[in-house]
Amino acid sequence: MSKITIQDFLKKKAGHKKITMLTAYDYPFAKIVDEAGIDAIIVGDSVGMVVQGLENTLPVTMDEMIYHTNIVSRAVKNAMVIGDLPFMSYQASIEDAIRNAGRFLKDAGASAVKIEGGAEVAAHIRAMTKSDIPIMAHIGLTPQSIHRMGGYKIQGKTEESAKKLLEEAHIAEDAGAFSLLLEAIPIGLAKKITEELSIPTIGIGAGPYCDGQVLVLHDVIGLFERFLPKFAKRYVNLKDEALNAIKVYKEEVEKGIFPSEEQSFK
Ligand code: KIV
Repeated sequence: MSKITIQDFLKKKAGHKKITMLTAYDYPFAKIVDEAGIDAIIVGDSVGMVVQGLENTLPVTMDEMIYHTNIVSRAVKNAMVIGDLPFMSYQASIEDAIRNAGRFLKDAGASAVKIEGGAEVAAHIRAMTKSDIPIMAHIGLTPQSIHRMGGYKIQGKTEESAKKLLEEAHIAEDAGAFSLLLEAIPIGLAKKITEELSIPTIGIGAGPYCDGQVLVLHDVIGLFERFLPKFAKRYVNLKDEALNAIKVYKEEVEKGIFPSEEQSFK
């Protein structure tokens, strides 16, 4: 199987086949996600919260994103690898956006880049796309805007804000985005956006009618404990499994059970 491309994304939308996506930040988990046949791995700036233990994503740097994206790219054979532009890597200028997005392709093995925002980054999306950098736009709840939004809140609930998000979706598509991530918006609005756009929508907390779905890996496997968003689903609790295994190891060392002859040299 060859690498998933942006053309495959478009084909899946046309063929009404769901696109699957997860985050990953390191080699072992990226390898597992890829082996499971997931279409795309996004190395999200959520790394700040689920791996670095930060309060939010704002302190994550471009160098950290390149470091993690490189590791993920090394592990992946088939999935599309998408880098995520962190806070203040693109807001100040279009030049910043092109240069930093370009680093994901040039230095970190990604084949696409995600940017938070719609209308306010339309010129950035246009410029990056013209520079041959495939762009996924991200609207709705955009975690880099938590201070403006007053927290992690559902977006597009009023008629006026829903209309604005629909307009932003069209603006992102017109600017050249190859797909659009919709975070924490009502089901009906996500359905309308998905039906009106020719590019695929990827939902996280946007209901079942999107062309694809993404979740944060650590929510799915039970490695992020601080909170589980209403829209996420925990499929396994690896934290408990790891905790139990480590407790057994501790006990065996303390009781002289480990190492046994089997783990020793003669
Ligand atoms: O940073 C992140 O993990 C994200 C997800 C919504 C994909 O943006």
